[in-house]
Amino acid sequence: MSAPARLNGVIVAIDGPSGAGKSSLTKLLARRLGYINIDTGAMFRSVALMARRAGIGCEQDAELAELCTGLKIGFERDGEGYRVLVNGEDVSKAIRTEEIGILTSCISARKPVRDALLAMQREMGAFGGVILEGRDIGTVVFPDAEVKFFLSASAEERGRRRWLELKARGEEVTLEETIAKVILRDQQDETRKHAPLKRADDAVDIDSTNLSIDEVLDLMERTVRARLLELERN
Ligand code: DC
Repeated sequence: MSAPARLNGVIVAIDGPSGAGKSSLTKLLARRLGYINIDTGAMFRSVALMARRAGIGCEQDAELAELCTGLKIGFERDGEGYRVLVNGEDVSKAIRTEEIGILTSCISARKPVRDALLAMQREMGAFGGVILEGRDIGTVVFPDAEVKFFLSASAEERGRRRWLELKARGEEVTLEETIAKVILRDQQDETRKHAPLKRADDAVDIDSTNLSIDEVLDLMERTVRARLLELERN
């Protein structure tokens, strides 16, 4: 393996189904490594929000392509986390509603949207020193990423985590229906035509079902640091 050719460090790709803990772990790992964190789900959510505001439906590919050319999506550090900016507007809260989540699931399956965001994501990560989290980072966006993780947990455990989150927000849902929704979302993400959720052949698998967040974080950090040493030696 050759030394990293990227200016700021390596590229770390984190893929996996929803509820596997990608967002929290990416944020924490980025902080430990001093890397930039790129939440690609937030980018798809931003497109969905802007499409909704512009009255563009999920199947209107030409309009979606046009919309994407006018969007500048970025991230800005904000204390422990980050803000999501679209053309300078802070959309961090607006993209997290249930309604935008549902629309995003459809919008993110459209080819013009994927193509536009693929170009943006490659540009954002080109210099390295970044962790990108999503569904197709290790397979499509950066198949040459130096470190790849595929993070998963059983559907029951992911459903349970989501259910606890919803309950804490005061939402009235049953555990069974939350698990059923997780399974449905997995099927949609795995079977869509463009860039489906798929494990890269060279990804390190981590099943977090029975692990604490700190245990997973330590394992990821050790893996990245070991890879950095290996690259330095060669
Ligand atoms: O990770 P998230 O829940 O914020 O993702 C929102 C939606 O975007 C979800 O339906 C999956 C989709 N997505 C995608 O298709 N490709 C990515 N790289 C990231 C997210």
